Amino acid sequence: MKGDRLLRESSKQFWRIGVFCVLVLAACTSGVQKKTSAESQPASEAPTVPLGISINAVMVGLVDHAAHSVWDAAAPGKEPKDDKGWAEVQHHAIQLAAAGSVIAMPGTGKSDAAWVETPEWRRYSKDLEDTGVQAWKAAQNKDMKAIADSGDKLVAICEGCHKLYKGDLPTEGIVHPH
Ligand code: HEC
Repeated sequence: MKGDRLLRESSKQFWRIGVFCVLVLAACTSGVQKKTSAESQPASEAPTVPLGISINAVMVGLVDHAAHSVWDAAAPGKEPKDDKGWAEVQHHAIQLAAAGSVIAMPGTGKSDAAWVETPEWRRYSKDLEDTGVQAWKAAQNKDMKAIADSGDKLVAICEGCHKLYKGDLPTEGIVHPH
C-alpha cells in the first residue's frame, strides 16, 4: 500500500514536472517566434524612434537652414568656390533629403499629428526628400544648372505646403531670424 502511494505520488510529480517543462518550452518558443516576426516586419511597420521636438523646430533648425545653402549655391556671386564649399552644399542637401522623412512623423507640436495624417502633407514631405536627393547629386557633380533647378523646386515645395498648413504665427513661436 505504502509503495503504491509512493508510486502514485511520484508519477504525479512526474506529470507536474512534465507539464512545467512543456510550459517553459512553449513560453520560450513563443518568445523566439515573436522576435523573428518583429525582425521580419516590413520597414513601414517597424517601430520608429519618436520625434522628440516639434515640426516647427525642425522647420527652423533643419529644413530652412539647409535650404538656404542650396539657394545660396545657385545665387550669382555666392557659388561654392572650392571642393570644401561644394561639400557643404552636399551635406545640406542630405539634410533636406532626411528632413522629408523627419517631417512625415508627428513631433511634439500641438498640430503635428493632424498635419502628418493628410495625403497632401505626405506628398510634400516626399517631394522634399526627392528634391534633397536631386540637390545632393547636383552638388556632387558641381552642376550649376541642376542646383538652380533644385532650388526652384524647393521654393515651390515650401510655398505649396505653407499655403496649406502654416499659420501666420508658428504654433511654438520658433521663427528663423532672417
Ligand atoms: C510638408 C509641409 C511643409 C514643407 C514641405 C515645408 N514646410 Fe515649413 N512649415 C510647415 C508648417 C506647417 C509650419 C508651421 C509650424 C507650426 O506653426 O508649428 C512651417 C514653419 C516653417 C518655418 C518657421 C516659421 C516661420 O515663419 O519662420 C520656417 C522658417 C519654414 N517652415 C521654412 C521652410 C522651408 C524653407 C521649406 C522648404 C525648403 C519648408 N519650410 C517646407 C510646413 C512645411
